Amino acid sequence: MAIYTGSNKHLGGTETVTKKETFYYGLVQKNVLVTGSNGQLGMELQQLSEKTGTPFRFFFTDFDLLDITDAEQINYYVEENSIEYIINCAAYTAVDKAESDEQTAYKVNYTGAENLAKSGAKIIHISTDYVFDGTAKAPYKEDAVTNPVSVYGKAKLKGEEAIKEFAKDWVIIRTSWLYSEFGNNFVKTMLRLMNERDELNIVADQHGTPTYAADLAEMIFVILESSEWKSGVYHFSNLGETTWFGFTEKIKELAAVNGCRLNPILTKEYKTDAVRPMYSVMDKSKIQSAFSVIIPQWEEALGRCLKKII
Ligand SMILES: NC(=O)c1ccc[n+]([C@@H]2O[C@H](COP(=O)([O-])OP(=O)(O)OC[C@H]3O[C@@H](n4cnc5c(N)ncnc54)[C@H](OP(=O)(O)O)[C@@H]3O)[C@@H](O)[C@H]2O)c1
Repeated sequence: MAIYTGSNKHLGGTETVTKKETFYYGLVQKNVLVTGSNGQLGMELQQLSEKTGTPFRFFFTDFDLLDITDAEQINYYVEENSIEYIINCAAYTAVDKAESDEQTAYKVNYTGAENLAKSGAKIIHISTDYVFDGTAKAPYKEDAVTNPVSVYGKAKLKGEEAIKEFAKDWVIIRTSWLYSEFGNNFVKTMLRLMNERDELNIVADQHGTPTYAADLAEMIFVILESSEWKSGVYHFSNLGETTWFGFTEKIKELAAVNGCRLNPILTKEYKTDAVRPMYSVMDKSKIQSAFSVIIPQWEEALGRCLKKII
């Protein structure tokens, strides 16, 4: 990433970073495999790697090129390309569908993670706030007790355990309510629905924090480029907290949508296959102090993303 002279790196500023600000001449490039790179986070990493100079050589892959559930394929790819680091963005992310498709959810989120962990490369693995049951009353710290209440959350937790057990060196980042200009996500769905309908009912009693995938991608670059590899579990989302209803109200306001009434409803009024945690706000102080980063507020981050979408 760009050479940084201040004491804390302010995330969310990649628009102003250009290649000419960086110089890594003379350094031997390290090879980084990114899995699931056509997803939201993977696409943001691709975009960031084009914008910023970096001492890393990226190998962006997705299911068609590299299936993380195929151990043989993974081992061959890692050895053949001298991969030193893996950023695992590949996942089964259909939270409701996972309830009736348990086998695939576990295959990708657990076995896939285990295969990558056993490849011998250092790994940055992405996990989720859904490893928690949502009964907390204050932001979850990294060492809080996990107790997933959905198949997706359980499979992701097994993935975390496999990374810890088998990876040579690892960083696990739990994130929440991810959105981006790429792929399918809550922000894009709400923008579409607000333009199609006169009113929408939105759950107003589940509390969490949205994460702009571009900010998470920047965070991953900071970790990758850190002079010291600091293994461990970290929580990362934008700052602040809201509900799905509050999130939607802000999308409506920032996108200047007229004419769609938003009605707050309770979780019990909106039936879904998977149970979701009622409270999944995560404490970000560990990642902030370990890597000296300033994380943007969720409202500001949303504004930046909407400028790209609209
Ligand atoms: N989205 C959220 O709200 C959220 C919240 C918390 C945590 N997370 C975590 O954040 C990470 C990134 O999420 P995201 O939203 O960027 O996910 P995403 O958009 O669903 O992207 C996941 C990518 O992984 C690919 N994939 C699926 N199975 C694969 C396999 N066997 N081998 C290789 N690639 C495979 C998918 O391909 P196909 O599209 O072809 O299946 C897709 O391109 C995930 O670990 C997720 O669990 C997400």
